[in-house]
Amino acid sequence: MRRSERMLLIDLANSVQELTATLKELRESQREVLERLAAVEQGVERIHEVSQGRVRTQYAQIEDLLALYRDIDPSASLPRMRDWAAGPELLRFLYEEVMAHKRTRVLECGSGTTTVIMAYAMRSLGSGTVTALEHDPRFAELTRRELTVRGLADWAEVVDAGLSEVEVDGDLWRWYDTAAIPSGELDMLLVDGPPADTGLQARYPALPLLADRLAGYAVVVLDDANRPDERAITERWTGRFPQFELQRLKHERGTVVLRPTTRLQ
Ligand SMILES: C[S@@+](CC[C@H](N)C(=O)[O-])C[C@H]1O[C@@H](n2cnc3c(N)ncnc32)[C@H](O)[C@@H]1O
Repeated sequence: MRRSERMLLIDLANSVQELTATLKELRESQREVLERLAAVEQGVERIHEVSQGRVRTQYAQIEDLLALYRDIDPSASLPRMRDWAAGPELLRFLYEEVMAHKRTRVLECGSGTTTVIMAYAMRSLGSGTVTALEHDPRFAELTRRELTVRGLADWAEVVDAGLSEVEVDGDLWRWYDTAAIPSGELDMLLVDGPPADTGLQARYPALPLLADRLAGYAVVVLDDANRPDERAITERWTGRFPQFELQRLKHERGTVVLRPTTRLQ
């Protein structure tokens, strides 16, 4: 083979090598682009799912709000149902629970819109009292005013119960002052306070401290059940109180309902 032919062959081999390397790089870039595209596609699907979920939630809330206005038929508008207050799904559930099961001895932790809605239910039933424990005197007063302007003061009582140290399961918790809680049996317990910023698993003590006052087929309701703290509380409650059956309601912030499988006391 002549020298010029050999040189040509070497050039050709180099070019093939370079082309192979370029092709490899191109394949690598193509793989990365495809991976990113798949991630974008997944992201778009997730956004679609989340927005579909939000639309469904908002639709359900509108339905529940309309149902509440229809069932209660109030002469003034109902109080706030966003932010700190329970949403229309939970409020409708509470109203119907009180009405359907004639829950006339209700205790709730954390006063507000829930107090007003359940007081309306008591008034429709013609008997019963909602007792709301409130750690913050300003909000206790606000809730009392909400009740009074609607003529509901006879159907609900807001009890000033500041947070104090209480021992549960060998640990100290900041919970409502137990000395302020009126005595007597309960057929419904709503746990919607104390607020999360008052301590870790702040709502846990409610059931251990009040379980022996629940009578008959009393129901326990926990709001904000999707939060990690309330998930942990639910797990502890169900472990410690196996006599209750757990139901999770698909409300925006999650609601847990515990019903006894057999008659209590
Ligand atoms: C999670 S919120 C729930 C209150 C009530 N169960 C409800 O859903 O309407 C807990 C706390 O919010 C506070 N709260 C009550 N009324 C309020 C108001 N009008 N504005 C801001 N916070 C309020 C009270 O301290 C209450 O204990």
